[in-house]
Order: sequence, then C-alpha cells, then structure tokens
Amino acid sequence: MMKTLKQIIQEAEQNKVAVGHFNISECVGLKGVFSAAKELELPIIIGVSEGEASFIGYRQAAALVKILREKFDYPVFINADHTKSLEKIKEAVEAGFNAVMFDGSHFPFEENIQKTKEVVEYVKSVNQEILVEAEIGYLKGSSTLLSETIVIKEEDLTKPEEAVQFVKETGIDLLAPSVGNLHGMFKNAQNPALNIERIKEIKNILRQISGQTIHLVLHGGSGIKDEDFLAAIDAGISVIHINTELRLAWRRGMEKVLREKPEENVPYKLLPGVVEEIKKVVYNRLKLFNKR
Ligand code: G3H
Ligand code: ZN
Repeated sequence: MMKTLKQIIQEAEQNKVAVGHFNISECVGLKGVFSAAKELELPIIIGVSEGEASFIGYRQAAALVKILREKFDYPVFINADHTKSLEKIKEAVEAGFNAVMFDGSHFPFEENIQKTKEVVEYVKSVNQEILVEAEIGYLKGSSTLLSETIVIKEEDLTKPEEAVQFVKETGIDLLAPSVGNLHGMFKNAQNPALNIERIKEIKNILRQISGQTIHLVLHGGSGIKDEDFLAAIDAGISVIHINTELRLAWRRGMEKVLREKPEENVPYKLLPGVVEEIKKVVYNRLKLFNKR
C-alpha cells in the first residue's frame, strides 16, 4: 500500500532529507514537476495557492494529481497552499486535497491561532489524514522577481516560544516559520541568508511537546543558496516550497520555444519546451533536497 503524506514527511525527517513542494497553475507545470520527480523516483507535493487555483480550479488540480498517483502508483500529493479563508479550505478538502495550508500570518497572533484552530477542527472532522499547515511570523515578498530588496529584521522571525503556543493551541501538523526566508527572488541581488540557528531552536523546542510531532516547512525556497538548503534540512526542515524559480522557468521555456519555432502553432509541439525548462529546475532542486 502507498505511504501516506504524513509517513513520507516523517521518513524525510528521519533521513535528514526534505520533500519538495512545487507550485503549479496549469498542466504544463504539473507535467514538468512530475516528470522530474518520477525520473528521480522521489515523492513530491504539488502546491496550488488561491491565485493558482483561481486558474486551474481546485477540483481539476486534485483530479489531475489523483490520476497520476493512481496511474503510476506514485507518491504525488496535493496541497492547498496559502489558503486564506475557511471557505477555500473547504473547497480544497471537498476536492480531495491531501494537505491544506491555512495562511493567517497577516492576522494578529491570537487571531491567527483562533482561525487556524477552526480550520484544524473542520479538516480533521472530515478526514484525519489530511495534513494542516499554518504560518507564523509573516513572510514578506511574493512569488515573482522582486525589483526592490527586502530586509528581514529580527522581529520578523518566528519566536520559538510562540511556535510552541501556536502548535499546542491549534493542533496543526506542519509549521511554516519565518527564518530569514521570503517569497520571490531579488532581481538584482542574492536573497538573504537563512537563520539556521533559529530553525534549530524552533525544531528543538517543538520536539519537547509530548504527543504531537510537528514538521517544519520552509517557504520561499527560490533563490536560497544550496548550502543554506542543506543546513536548513540538517537543522530540522522537512518540506521545501519552490515557486518563483518554476514561474521563471515557465516563461524562459516559452520565450525560447517561440523564438526557435516562430511558425509553429501546435501547442503540443511548443509546450514540451516549457515542460523541459521546469523539469530541469525541479530535478536539480529535488536532487539537492535529497542529498545525504
Ligand atoms: O508557498 C510557496 C513558496 O513559499 C514559494 O516561494 O516563490 O520564493 O519559491 P518562492
Ligand atoms: Zn509560501
């Protein structure tokens, strides 16, 4: 029988590797991500944020992933990424998502706890196996090229004691902390370095909560240095989200293929070029996340 997403993340943590989470908006992206994972025989999570779902649809995305999972008997899962309302969480759960990320990080801490708790209660009442993730400590930026650099200050980082309170009161499975990461990539500079010490502190303090195993998720993976990824995994990160790098690959692939085939109009003759660019990025990231 196929392992559950929870088992896969648990094993990743034990083996000191991370499960790759890659966002898609349509089936070209899905094809690129899936073919890289399959070639490496590694489990993956497909992410669909609210914006991405507004294009592809929750039910359509869930159906496509389910077909891949069943057809190839393959550990590919789907997460409703950065979902900001219970209503959308319900849509994703009803569509058959394996995980949901409730993003209440823009709310004051106590309100984030309350709203997240409601999400956990709802999700677990439907299906205990669906994982719930939440974010504390607001992550700046957005998944695109950022023309201005962003400074991450000490007060932006997730505080270990807040992580404990949040986890205990909400009952989440996965926590996305702010540890020097941001969404997107600086156009003209290197993204900031991760605060590896803070990851260790959060992971260690969460280990002490009895009866609850919390896995840490690193958002904003695009633009992070290879050595920071490896140190972050070593410090306790078990899932890594990548989006901007795939969006750039999508565009790069599309521009390249249109340049190379100016007279071509057949989508299935053009789009493999886009699939290839996405595949390359995912392949390299997955190899790195699974380096032991
Ligand atoms: O949830 C999605 C990720 O956090 C993506 O971040 O666009 O910086 O890779 P990124
Ligand atoms: Zn994110």
